[in-house]
Amino acid sequence: MYIVDLINKKRMNGKFNKNEIKYIVDSYVQGKIEDYQMSALLMAICINGLDSEETIYLTDAMLDSGDKIDLSSIPGIKVDKHSTGGVGDKTTLIVLPIVASLGVPVAKMSGRGLGYTGGTIDKLESIPGFNVNLNISDFINQVKKYNICIGTTTSSITPADKKIYALRDVTGTVSSKSLIAASIMSKKLATGADKILLDVKYGNGALLNDMNDAIDLAKLMVYIGNSHGKETRALITNMNYPLGNMVGNALEVKEAIDVLTGGGNKDLRDLCITLASYMVSMSKNSDFMSAQGEVLSSLRTGKAYQKFLELVKLQGGNINSINISSKIIEIKSTKSGFINNISAISIAEAALKLGSGRMTKNDTIDMSVGIETLKNVGDYVNIGDSLAKIYVGSKEIDYNIVLNAFEISDSKIEKEPIIYGIIK
Ligand code: URA
Repeated sequence: MYIVDLINKKRMNGKFNKNEIKYIVDSYVQGKIEDYQMSALLMAICINGLDSEETIYLTDAMLDSGDKIDLSSIPGIKVDKHSTGGVGDKTTLIVLPIVASLGVPVAKMSGRGLGYTGGTIDKLESIPGFNVNLNISDFINQVKKYNICIGTTTSSITPADKKIYALRDVTGTVSSKSLIAASIMSKKLATGADKILLDVKYGNGALLNDMNDAIDLAKLMVYIGNSHGKETRALITNMNYPLGNMVGNALEVKEAIDVLTGGGNKDLRDLCITLASYMVSMSKNSDFMSAQGEVLSSLRTGKAYQKFLELVKLQGGNINSINISSKIIEIKSTKSGFINNISAISIAEAALKLGSGRMTKNDTIDMSVGIETLKNVGDYVNIGDSLAKIYVGSKEIDYNIVLNAFEISDSKIEKEPIIYGIIK
């Protein structure tokens, strides 16, 4: 087989068979295909696509490129949760303690943030001392004993995805639905859960802007998961505005605690309750309403918050020494009217420039900085009302980025709901 023939085949909109896809993935990992050849092939895939069969072959080839985690020694049905990424998405910090407090084992491998998308691991590391680098047997033992552990993915899991994703990131080939689906699902299948719940986001702060594209991606990932014998479901959720009121690592931990202790932003709380209820009902094979009843009771009684504190303690974190910057700039409205949107992408850009995220993989991040929105979509504001607080560190930014994120006008546009629907 020659890579140039395969590039030409996809350029001409041909269909790959299983052996061809395996050859491409294995040869690229082994360094037998050059980056410039793989880039051309990825671009041809972006333009002409892969059908669902080719996408499954790609998922399998990437899955087989590395280690697979065996969680079978942990009793119970393990459900994994994955978000396609968004601005202010701290749901894992809330949902996992809820479900673990209800006896559902959660063995979660999470990633770091890159670009506009934050990562759960960075958020957890804003808790001083929190250790995410557990070896696999400690990871499994903690879940067996306490139902919950969150660690980083190791480099031995889906190395093909790591290499291909890094190339996609710099060649404008991230947004292909087939490539996204194979990338995410190969990792989910490698980390060993029995069932998978996906949170597929659409909007200006998401990987895919258009809701119909998000629905297609969700259907593809649900098909891949189910084809591998793992019941998979996907919520379609809104990322035109940030999720919750806090964006920035330590701030997001604080907001997660607010929700776990009975307060917090309504959209964030509603989404967490829905995600947790699906996870509980999938794990216990119970109906959604009774699972939701359990979730609400765990939040009400403080069981979920106790589980969160237990997780932090088990992994060495000190919740009392989280550092949020005390240098605060308040942004005030220059208009009166209804807030019809708070642009997720603009808030993400401001947070990134403050230093809360990485422009490139090796950047260091400032855990203490970020943005707190003080008003929500749908609120009415007068001139001079406070819209947001910016928690500043060592980097100066143009504060107008935050001011202009607030789309204010005289007439009120109906707010798009946080959850659009579920794909089963
Ligand atoms: N997240 C992933 O893990 N892979 C993608 O391709 C896009 C987002």
